[in-house]
Amino acid sequence: MSDFSAYIDRELPRFHEELETFLRIPSISTDPERAGDVRACAEWVAEHFAAAGVPGAEVIETGGHPIVVGERIHAPDAPTVLVYGHYDVQPSEPDELWSSPPFEPAVRDGRLYARGAVDDKGQVHMHIKALEARLATGEDVPVNLKLVIEGEEEVGSRHLADFLSENAERLACDAVLISDTGMFSPDLPCITTGLRGIVYAEINVFGPASDLHSGTYGGAVVNPANALAAILAGLRDGRGRATVPGYYDAVRPIGERERADLDRLPMDEETLRDSVGATALGGEAGFSALERLWYRPTLDVNGMLSGFTGEGSKTVLPSRAMAKVSMRLVPDQDPAQVIEAFEARVRELAPEGVTVEINRSHGGAPWVVDTEHPIFDAASAALESGFGAPPAFVREGGSIPIVQAFEETFEAPALLIGFALPGCNMHAPDEWIDLGVYRNGIAALADLYGRLADGLN
Ligand code: BES
Ligand code: ZN
Repeated sequence: MSDFSAYIDRELPRFHEELETFLRIPSISTDPERAGDVRACAEWVAEHFAAAGVPGAEVIETGGHPIVVGERIHAPDAPTVLVYGHYDVQPSEPDELWSSPPFEPAVRDGRLYARGAVDDKGQVHMHIKALEARLATGEDVPVNLKLVIEGEEEVGSRHLADFLSENAERLACDAVLISDTGMFSPDLPCITTGLRGIVYAEINVFGPASDLHSGTYGGAVVNPANALAAILAGLRDGRGRATVPGYYDAVRPIGERERADLDRLPMDEETLRDSVGATALGGEAGFSALERLWYRPTLDVNGMLSGFTGEGSKTVLPSRAMAKVSMRLVPDQDPAQVIEAFEARVRELAPEGVTVEINRSHGGAPWVVDTEHPIFDAASAALESGFGAPPAFVREGGSIPIVQAFEETFEAPALLIGFALPGCNMHAPDEWIDLGVYRNGIAALADLYGRLADGLN
């Protein structure tokens, strides 16, 4: 067993405690009242990276939440790897559905429960500990390391793309290493080779100037809730396809090789159905669940609001209605084109008598990487050393819009090695990280930090 592996086993209880202090900071980026906590969390990250071996790690202000930046320069001519992650988290509500409070980490059955446990604080912490373990046991990290840990990932990385281009020289690198994705099962590590893009919009439908009695006026005025329901229903057809014109034109067909890759994965649709507690799976007709999740775009309502939603009944015609819609995109769909076509389609579906306002939110392009790059061999070997099994190459249905910006700014491949297990409740109550995966993942990353130069020289 390598020295760092023994070190990890010995120090694991302390690592757990430390991760718990990290998770106690409610760094909810979307909540302005938590801005102080978000900043405190950035300080925590900078301090712990500094202690682990990136001495100059510092908190840098942006127009929004700060970014933690640092570098550990090994040799000017050695290759450089930039580690990216995020220390901000999603809101915890509905808090009453958590089995233990979201910001009071609790261990149950080998899992650590807290908001951010796996997305992404737990995974950022694994990098801190991997680095510590290597350096504390006298093992070299033969590449230059740079860090960018942001506090706005969950709100669309509002300031990061500009920050990268403004600091392109300081942050220049040969590869970007990111742990903010998932794996198939505790003993099947994964390298993510593609992510979906996203377009997100809010639709507001305005009708009468104020709410109206639904008897006095019902039948004579256009009800914005009915209008919105018609719009939303019209955005998809009976086969689960979006009706936005041209939506599928740029979608790459699923190739032979991709189908063969999918067939090799231990995927069981009934298990997926049961794990989400639904009576049946759904989505676009004619594709398997993994195809729908990884290779096909979506159009989904994420939220709706209108009229009377309290206890009991109130006979009222609402004066307005609102829905939030996300579209997950796949190569080669273009977010700018999609949002234009979406807006036009919504307006076309809106009945006369209401006005429609569409607010665009964050967006990001879909991403795929060329796995021929030698860094994937280094990563495979490292994962095998940590988990005892070689990794599967997978895609993810989720989005990390900034991955594109990294690749474009630095012309460097992105290596996505994530540790979230299916059912880990990212963005939901009772988010957890598997502590066995946490341990093996630290060992794999510690090994990877030693191999990165092989893949980049
Ligand atoms: N860690 C996730 C991305 C992710 C989710 C990867 C699921 C793999 C599987 C990330 O923190 C996230 O939630 N991203 C957002 C991006 C959005 C806010 C632009 C997402 O996918 O909703
Ligand atoms: Zn997230």
